[in-house]
Amino acid sequence: MSTCNTGPDFSSGFPAFVSAGDILTDLVRVPAPDGTPAHGDSHWRAHPGGAGWNVARAVARLGLPTACVGALGTDNFSDELWNASVAAGLDMRFMQRVAHPPLLAIVHQTHPPAYYFIGEQSADLAFDPAKLPEGWRAHAKWAHFGCISLVRQPLGETLATLAAELRAAGVKISFDPNYRNLMAHGYEPILRRMAALADLIKVSDEDLRMLFPNHSETEAIAAMRALNPAATLLVTRGAQAASLHTVDGEVIEAAPPRVEVADTVGAGDASIGGLLFSLMSTPQRTWRQHLAFALAAGAAACRRAGAHSPTLDEVVALLAD
Ligand SMILES: Nc1ncnc2c1ncn2[C@@H]1O[C@H](COP(=O)(O)OP(=O)(O)O)[C@@H](O)[C@H]1O
Ligand SMILES: [Mg+2]
Repeated sequence: MSTCNTGPDFSSGFPAFVSAGDILTDLVRVPAPDGTPAHGDSHWRAHPGGAGWNVARAVARLGLPTACVGALGTDNFSDELWNASVAAGLDMRFMQRVAHPPLLAIVHQTHPPAYYFIGEQSADLAFDPAKLPEGWRAHAKWAHFGCISLVRQPLGETLATLAAELRAAGVKISFDPNYRNLMAHGYEPILRRMAALADLIKVSDEDLRMLFPNHSETEAIAAMRALNPAATLLVTRGAQAASLHTVDGEVIEAAPPRVEVADTVGAGDASIGGLLFSLMSTPQRTWRQHLAFALAAGAAACRRAGAHSPTLDEVVALLAD
């Protein structure tokens, strides 16, 4: 596997951006050609994935030195994730390998999605921050957390502690809860804890409905903001207008560019990755400009099948339209 020759150069030190946890293999059932449910053999496709891993790839592809922080196994699926991480230009000093089974997301139906996870005592859970390369924290500017890694113990506790330590050291924290069915019970404590640490929170309209089931969207946004009024909140709504709620109470709305959609897998991850890239690479931009960049990154991800990480050129081309 060759490394991406246009990728960031890590020779000079540690990455300014890390995305922690959430690296797994999606095993997706391939529907029968006539769309009927499988009654015998079924076909499966394995995709390297995980929301956090997608965010890492998004930022790396746009052009900033990036690491995905976590642990993989020593099996075939983990080898594929490792190779795809190398190809994405991620700093591999941050990816640990342990002789435990892989974490799999079994997506046995796609319309509507139905899934469960296989990952008892799996490799991801064994991630150990003490084994990360010495001195990296001083170079980190932003760290991203979210999704199922926060509810898989002992990993969730490890990551929440890491987030608190990074924040105390001046690293900015990004958080995308990315609702999954694992969070149906007992998610509130970690939601509160991570939201309180965050400088930036991203939720989709669907996340809001699942996290605050008895609330209108306006009430859910208010509840989310109340968890940490000092965090900027990005609310995305697929092809509909997104809103950015600043710490000054300003609400900026914008629609994503219209694109021909191959699929929307990883769109949210590309949009928060795009926002983080914009904040880190061009801090002088206004919030409206950062939002436009994020939405173009999300839309660009939809133009290609799978969790496509758009290049800077792809995003800039959409912004110019
Ligand atoms: N159908 C679409 N057309 C254009 N852009 C889209 C579409 N779906 C998603 N996006 C882009 O991806 C962003 C995140 O999508 P969304 O579906 O809200 O998040 P998530 O993937 O987390 O559910 C949107 O704000 C938009 O920029
Ligand atoms: Mg999402």
